[in-house]
Amino acid sequence: MTATIEKQELLYTGKAKQMYATNDPEVLWVEYLDQATALNGKRKVEIAQKGRLNNRISTLIFKDLAAHGIENHFIDQPSDYVQLVRKVTMIPLETVVRNAASGSFERKFAAEHLTKFAEPVLEFFYKSDELDDPFINDSQVLALKVATAETIAEMKRQALLVNQRLTTIFAEMGIQLVDFKIEFGMTAAGQVLLADEISPDSCRLVDLKTGDSLDKDVFRKGLGDLAPVYQEVLTRLATVEEDQHVSD
Ligand code: ADP
Ligand code: TMP
Repeated sequence: MTATIEKQELLYTGKAKQMYATNDPEVLWVEYLDQATALNGKRKVEIAQKGRLNNRISTLIFKDLAAHGIENHFIDQPSDYVQLVRKVTMIPLETVVRNAASGSFERKFAAEHLTKFAEPVLEFFYKSDELDDPFINDSQVLALKVATAETIAEMKRQALLVNQRLTTIFAEMGIQLVDFKIEFGMTAAGQVLLADEISPDSCRLVDLKTGDSLDKDVFRKGLGDLAPVYQEVLTRLATVEEDQHVSD
């Protein structure tokens, strides 16, 4: 990596982040946006501070995962809204891990809200805005040549490790990790690498004391202001991570 990373041209504007090239071809400059979307981008609202909060939360989680042996694309957080990450070729799959019934699982199977699963449930969704990110099973992934059997197995392995560590972190924060979505990319050397973000936008979090949602469901269901909720998650996460550094 070159010593000073400089922002170059805009490569992509997504629903939550903008991706820029840098003077290092292996590094991306990510800007987290003050924006929330639902219904695959059909509903879009500006939310002050959201980008800063998600950037910080995602940074602390990626650092924690790396410290616990789960490699990921995070390199540095140079400022409030910016993250530097390793550029990878994204695998167009959303990997969802569920510890209890909620969201689309609850709707699809008329499952009782927050019924705990004996083993985590793992699902893939095919990333396609045109198709509304449909559920996709392993043999459909293979048929469409989206990923090899080896890559699928590696994504599942890492996703379960991420689940173990995230469940522990959130429990220490007084929060139940109900489910979450992660994305992986492929490095030039063929390594499956955890990428994108891990934040309350992509996790379902429930306060263990009050049962309140501490994630994007607050926006999806119109339950109130998102920023104070994300600030609460960040405050608790920062405390847990600081304690770890003291004891490490
Ligand atoms: P979306 O594309 O779903 O609207 P975002 O607004 O979060 O989502 O945009 C970020 C985009 O950058 C996503 O398409 C994501 O797959 C991609 N991405 C995340 N991390 C990396 C990375 N390390 N290298 C290349 N692309 C990445
Ligand atoms: P679901 O219950 O709606 O399928 O969502 C499962 C998890 O995935 C939940 O934590 C929210 C997250 N998620 C995303 O991050 N992006 C998405 O586009 C969707 C549909 C869900």
